[in-house]
Amino acid sequence: MFAIIVSCLLVSACHGSTLRNRRFPDDFIFGVSTAAYQIEGGWNEDGKGESIWDHLTRTNPTAVKDVSNGNIAADSYHNYKRDVEMMRELGLDAYRFSLSWARILPTGMANEVNPAGVAYYNNLINEMMKYNITPIVGLYHWDLPQKLQDLGGFTNPLIVTWFEDYARVVFRSFGDRVKMFITFNEPREICLEGYGSTSKAPILNSTAVGTYLCAKNLLMAHAAAYHIYDKEFRSSQNGRCGITISVHDYAPATNSTEDVFAAEVARQGEWALYADPIYSAEGGFPKELADKIAVKSAQQGYPRSRLPAFTEEEKVFVRGSSDFFGLNHYTGYLVSATTHELVPKPSLWDDMDVRMYKNATWPKSAASWLAMAPNSLYNVMIHLKARYNNPVIYVTENGWSTRSQGGLIDDDRIRYYRAALENVLDALDAGVNLKGYMAWSLMDNFEWLQGYTERYGLYQVNYSDPMRTRTPRKSAFVYKHIIKHRAVDYEYEPETMVMTIDEGH
Ligand SMILES: *[C@@H]1O[C@H](CO)[C@@H](O)[C@H](O)[C@H]1NC(C)=O
Ligand SMILES: *[C@@H]1O[C@H](CO)[C@@H](O)[C@H](O)[C@H]1NC(C)=O
Ligand SMILES: *[C@@H]1O[C@H](CO)[C@@H](O)[C@H](O)[C@H]1NC(C)=O
Ligand SMILES: *[C@@H]1O[C@H](CO)[C@@H](O)[C@H](O)[C@H]1NC(C)=O
Repeated sequence: MFAIIVSCLLVSACHGSTLRNRRFPDDFIFGVSTAAYQIEGGWNEDGKGESIWDHLTRTNPTAVKDVSNGNIAADSYHNYKRDVEMMRELGLDAYRFSLSWARILPTGMANEVNPAGVAYYNNLINEMMKYNITPIVGLYHWDLPQKLQDLGGFTNPLIVTWFEDYARVVFRSFGDRVKMFITFNEPREICLEGYGSTSKAPILNSTAVGTYLCAKNLLMAHAAAYHIYDKEFRSSQNGRCGITISVHDYAPATNSTEDVFAAEVARQGEWALYADPIYSAEGGFPKELADKIAVKSAQQGYPRSRLPAFTEEEKVFVRGSSDFFGLNHYTGYLVSATTHELVPKPSLWDDMDVRMYKNATWPKSAASWLAMAPNSLYNVMIHLKARYNNPVIYVTENGWSTRSQGGLIDDDRIRYYRAALENVLDALDAGVNLKGYMAWSLMDNFEWLQGYTERYGLYQVNYSDPMRTRTPRKSAFVYKHIIKHRAVDYEYEPETMVMTIDEGH
């Protein structure tokens, strides 16, 4: 490091972006993210109830590519002290994790709180606080208590009160130490993938209405939790409450009017369906998409639009119900007005009626959907700044998938992170109100229907080892170096693969 600085001074011009004096602000928060079902294991321990992922993997095991499940996963239920040690090794400011609703409320309802579940999260939070690592706590990362799914889950408007009751237990139990809560992780993946198709639990495949019923009920549930925080907890706890939405970049394939409109429709269907009601000045669902759904619904003989409307009162309830924009971002798409033929009808895809594809030149990850689209993170943040009047943004997930046999030398992941963090610096220069960045993920984990065939970890997890030993990948050293020096250094190579904890962590 020292040698590079000296040689830069001597030559007085550093190569490209190397240490070109662009630094992350001192108060910029660096962290990593995980999710309960993907790492915890302990699926039926100490009174935990069954979640929709426990249920799916138990009753329909071949739905998962390698017929695996999260019963043990990375066993963070027993390894949380090692997890915190890894946070210290990386020098993190913050750790974003999620709570398992069914671990805290085994039946989903708030009449019965499981003390062992609350104790597990207290232990984790307290261990982090010892080392000044800020907890960022998600209430919901896809693992609905199965008992609530039996009652319709997010298609039942009563989810609003069930979630409100759960949120109150969470704020009361942890809000003395947790100052940043995230209600839902990725409404699109919950609603479109879980209810409108078969790519996430509960694989309902209600393509006509599942996505839309879920969207409205989820937004109402989010707003209810936000208002509970606002009314009952904010004055004593002084924290913040928001939501995390996955936003990919949707760029028109050409500058024709048709393609530009198609790209906007894609944005509306893929993420603004969930974001506009909260962050737009007008509130309510995005207009062009809502119009398209109404027209198609009428043509299909439905007496009303398949997208349930918000009343004026509900619009006001949801609008502004977030203290920040939690942004999960991974990739981008090109969009053209050409119809994609092979979609179920009726469905969101048929309602949008656009073609989304990737430029074949973009480098591919192990995940079919995840390619490295140039400057996609920058483009998205600039778009959100303009669309929603410069909201406070946290990147709550960003990462790269490699194959299970990929090993510890993950240069493609490093390339991805460096490019993304260069985008972060560009966005800060452009005045984006960005306050932090969380890499996905701290360690390898159960990747939903892909099982353990894909890896996202800065740390590798050995699943053949009953201890689920974690070993840092090369990317862990690079991320640590970026955090420590608050700059993206393209020359840096770790000298050894031995990880230590720096003084002060
Ligand atoms: C569309 O126009 C903008 C601004 O002139 C330009 O930067 C962009 O490259 C164009 N996009 C395409 C796909 O031609
Ligand atoms: C999901 O439903 C659509 C009809 O809306 C159907 O075409 C498709 O085959 C179903 N998928 C599965 C996996 O059952
Ligand atoms: C795809 O990428 C290539 C190489 O970067 C570029 O020349 C081409 O314009 C891109 N195509 C579109 C439609 O963006
Ligand atoms: C994983 O753990 C098993 C069992 O302890 C051990 O035999 C194996 O060598 C480990 N694999 C790696 C890559 O460390």
